[in-house]
Amino acid sequence: MAIVDVVDVTKIYALGDVEVHALRGVSMSIDAGEFVAVMGSSGSGKSTLMNILGCLDKPTTGEFRLAGELVSKMDSDGLARMRNRTLGFVFQSFNLLSRTTALENVELPLLYADVPAAERHRRAREALGRVGLGERMDHHPNQLSGGQQQRVAIARALVNQPKLILADEPTGNLDSETSIEMMTLFQELWSAGITIILVTHEPDIAAFAGRVVDMKDGRVRFDRRQQPADAKAALVESRAQRGASGEPDSAVQEAPA
Ligand SMILES: Nc1ncnc2c1ncn2[C@@H]1O[C@H](COP(=O)(O)OP(=O)(O)OP(=O)(O)O)[C@@H](O)[C@H]1O
Ligand SMILES: [Mg+2]
Repeated sequence: MAIVDVVDVTKIYALGDVEVHALRGVSMSIDAGEFVAVMGSSGSGKSTLMNILGCLDKPTTGEFRLAGELVSKMDSDGLARMRNRTLGFVFQSFNLLSRTTALENVELPLLYADVPAAERHRRAREALGRVGLGERMDHHPNQLSGGQQQRVAIARALVNQPKLILADEPTGNLDSETSIEMMTLFQELWSAGITIILVTHEPDIAAFAGRVVDMKDGRVRFDRRQQPADAKAALVESRAQRGASGEPDSAVQEAPA
């Protein structure tokens, strides 16, 4: 079944007297359980599309169905409900609150959803364990490496048990090996049945997805399925080339508890 169904979607931004045609008629159907990389040059409409898929914005024309529901006709309460029930977001800049711990950052979406405290802690701990950060729950973002901060952000995206994770350039601020590490995590979530749509500029990163949608000037230039590269194997290879061994976390083991 299609989890995402986009039919002839356009998005026009009005900037004073000027109209910016960010999307010029995009159609695509994404099945539950797919891992899609969205590529394309700067300004091609990737983030605009992600904002619509993420129920943060509505198309100017066209239809968008998410998990069978017609989102393009919903009011802002309806959009918020869809976001809380169905979606998890990961951003390039992590978007963590700096003065709160990893655990509290991950609990935040549950706080908004009025989940009781004990249940919040339990679910946030479980999500942090899932991304390999069980030992770092009390650290503040500035006590974590970039890769670890992005793991916290992924745990936060997971804590509501979303059907779909939307990630806009999640490896944009990470070095290449940490990026591959992040892709091992996305591939694990994919194996667990979560649908993933991930924007990237890097072909090496798109190679880990099962499908690539390439955008140009607000349209889909091509959309094709592919045999995904294995991120775990790529990580082993990258570490071997560097002559490294052991855990990638080792550089921050000394961080104060
Ligand atoms: N809020 C806005 N108001 C006006 N124009 C906008 C707005 N957001 C985006 N645009 C314009 O829409 C077009 C598509 O922008 P979008 O952010 O979707 O591109 P992108 O593919 O994500 O680019 P990048 O790779 O640089 O992130 C661009 O021409 C941009 O200037
Ligand atoms: Mg963008």
